[in-house]
Amino acid sequence: MKKVIGLTLVFLFTAVLVASAQENALSLYGSAEPRSIEALATGFEQATGVKVNWIRLSSGETLARLRAEKENPQADVWWGGTIDPHSIAALEGLTESYCPSVYDEMDPRFRDPLGDCKVIGVYVGILGFSVNQDVLNEMGLPIPTGWEDLLDPRYKGLIGIANPNTSGTALTTLATQVFRKGEEKGEKIDEDAGLEYMKKLHQNIANYTKSGVAPGILAGRGEIAIAIIFMHDAVYHAEEGYPVTPIAPKEGTGYEIGGLNMVKGAPHPELAKKFMDWVVSAEAQETQAPIGAYQLPTNTKAKVPEVSIPIDSVKTVNYDFQWVAENGVRITDRWTREVFTMPR
Ligand code: F6P
Repeated sequence: MKKVIGLTLVFLFTAVLVASAQENALSLYGSAEPRSIEALATGFEQATGVKVNWIRLSSGETLARLRAEKENPQADVWWGGTIDPHSIAALEGLTESYCPSVYDEMDPRFRDPLGDCKVIGVYVGILGFSVNQDVLNEMGLPIPTGWEDLLDPRYKGLIGIANPNTSGTALTTLATQVFRKGEEKGEKIDEDAGLEYMKKLHQNIANYTKSGVAPGILAGRGEIAIAIIFMHDAVYHAEEGYPVTPIAPKEGTGYEIGGLNMVKGAPHPELAKKFMDWVVSAEAQETQAPIGAYQLPTNTKAKVPEVSIPIDSVKTVNYDFQWVAENGVRITDRWTREVFTMPR
C-alpha cells in the first residue's frame, strides 16, 4: 500500500512539474527557415529564461493550422513567413493586434503594413530567381533576366516554384504578376493578365513544392535550372557552395515583409507579448546574419548584413499588402482551379 501511495505521489509530482514547465514555455509557430527560428528561440531563452517550444511550417500551412485550431489555439505567437497569410489570419480574426515596445525603432515602411499593429513586419525579402549557370551552360541556354524570359519553351521542365496554397513565397509570386501586369497597363492590378502569365509559366514548371525555399535546393543540386525564390535564400545557397546566382527580374519584382502575430486565445498571452517585444529588437534581428539568414531587418538599429540585397537597388512593383490581405485567398483559389489543374 505504502508503495502504491509513494508511486502515486511521484506521478502527481511529475505531472505538476510538466504542467508548470508547459505553463512557462512559449509555444511558437515559425515560417522562416528552421535555423532562423532556432536562433531566435535560443536568443530569447538566454535573454529572458523563458523556454520556447517551436515548430516550422510554411506560411500557408500555418494559416491552415490556425484556422483548424481556432476553437482551441495551441500556439502563442507566429513569427516569420511572408506577411500575406499573417494578414489573412488577422482579417479572419485568428490573431490579436499588438504593438511591440520598440515600435518607434522600426522602419515605418515595413513595421505595420495594415495599420493598428494588426500584423508586425520583422524582415524584408526580395523575390527573384536562383539560377544554376552550370546547368544552363551545359544545355546551351541563356540566363533569364526577367519574368517574360521564363516563358521561353526551352525552359520546359527546368523551373521550380512552390504552391501558393502552402507557400507564402508562391503567393508573393502570384500577387506580383497581378501587380506587374496592372502596371504594364497603367493600372494598379490586372488579375486576369496575372493569371494568364501563371498559366504560361505552368508549362515550364518541373514541379510545385510545399515550401518556398525548396526549389532553391533543387536548383542548387542541378535537378532544375531556375528557382523562383527570395533572393536572400539564393545568396545563402551560393555561400553554401551551390553553383547558383540570384537574379532580380528586370521588369520589376515583388517583395515580402516577414510577419509577426499574436494568436487570438494564445495559451500564454503575457509570454507572447514578451517575445514580440524582444523579437523585433536590434539584438534579436542581429541573431540572423551569423546563421546565414540575409533578409533585411526592420529594426533601424539592427546592422544590415553585408551580403543582403538592398531593396532600393532593385526595381520593385507597387506591392499592395492590404490588397493581398483582402484578395489572397481568392486569387489562390483561382490559381488552383485555373492554373494548377491544367495539363503540362
Ligand atoms: O528564408 C526563408 C524564407 O524565404 C523567408 O524569407 C520567407 O518568409 C519564408 O521562407 C517563406 O516560406 P514559405 O514560402 O515556405 O511560406
